[in-house]
Amino acid sequence: MNIRVFENDRQAAQAAACMIAAQILSKPAAVIGLATGGTPVPAYQELVRLTNAGVLDWSRVTTFNLDEYLGLPGDHDQSFKYFMMKHLFNKVNIAPESIHIPDGMAADPTEACMSYERAIREQGGIDLQLLGIGRNGHIGFNEPADAFSPITHVVDLTEDTIEANARFFASSADVPRQALSMGVGTIMQARSIVMLVTGTEKARAVRSMICEPVSPSCPASVLQLHANVTILLDSPAATAMNHCR
Ligand code: PGA
Repeated sequence: MNIRVFENDRQAAQAAACMIAAQILSKPAAVIGLATGGTPVPAYQELVRLTNAGVLDWSRVTTFNLDEYLGLPGDHDQSFKYFMMKHLFNKVNIAPESIHIPDGMAADPTEACMSYERAIREQGGIDLQLLGIGRNGHIGFNEPADAFSPITHVVDLTEDTIEANARFFASSADVPRQALSMGVGTIMQARSIVMLVTGTEKARAVRSMICEPVSPSCPASVLQLHANVTILLDSPAATAMNHCR
């Protein structure tokens, strides 16, 4: 694992944007895996800035998002589709047909998961996957469990995740209880992975991911087994890591 600690969240997000920009510059038809949540917003702002400055061209880029709530239509203001359109896709020159997000309104969610996996394969796999981490060590919506999930699947969200995401909804009762998420196996097949983590509330999860044995009880710990992972931390997120390596 390549671990970089920055003084503040702004710098860490900028570094994530730089790595995505470098991927697109080195391979204009890159396949990029993207993430939602509060953490990547400044990274997306920086990517928009680089695009407006004429540095980045998204016309040949394909994207696959990690996850989506089950039961929320794409125009719901808390759906991940809405988030991605607002923060990135409406502001860059990506072709609408090159954007892939699991379909939260699919009549057959299991089939939607299988077709998502097929679509990733048909595009030749993901070149760079951007990740965040949950306070409980989740990646995508892969929650702590007894086993790593191999492929895109329907997930029951844990109370911890529902509570963490309630800040975006009127109340925690409004947070969907299920989601569609790439599996840990899907994520591990990406050729490179960039994880962005900021804030002290993630410090314990970062410590388990990096310092403890690989275990599905901390899904992010599986990244120890990936050959090309960069973890970008701000100093608050890195505070629990001392002496562990
Ligand atoms: P956050 O979510 O950026 O909103 O903290 C990250 C995640 O849960 O993966």
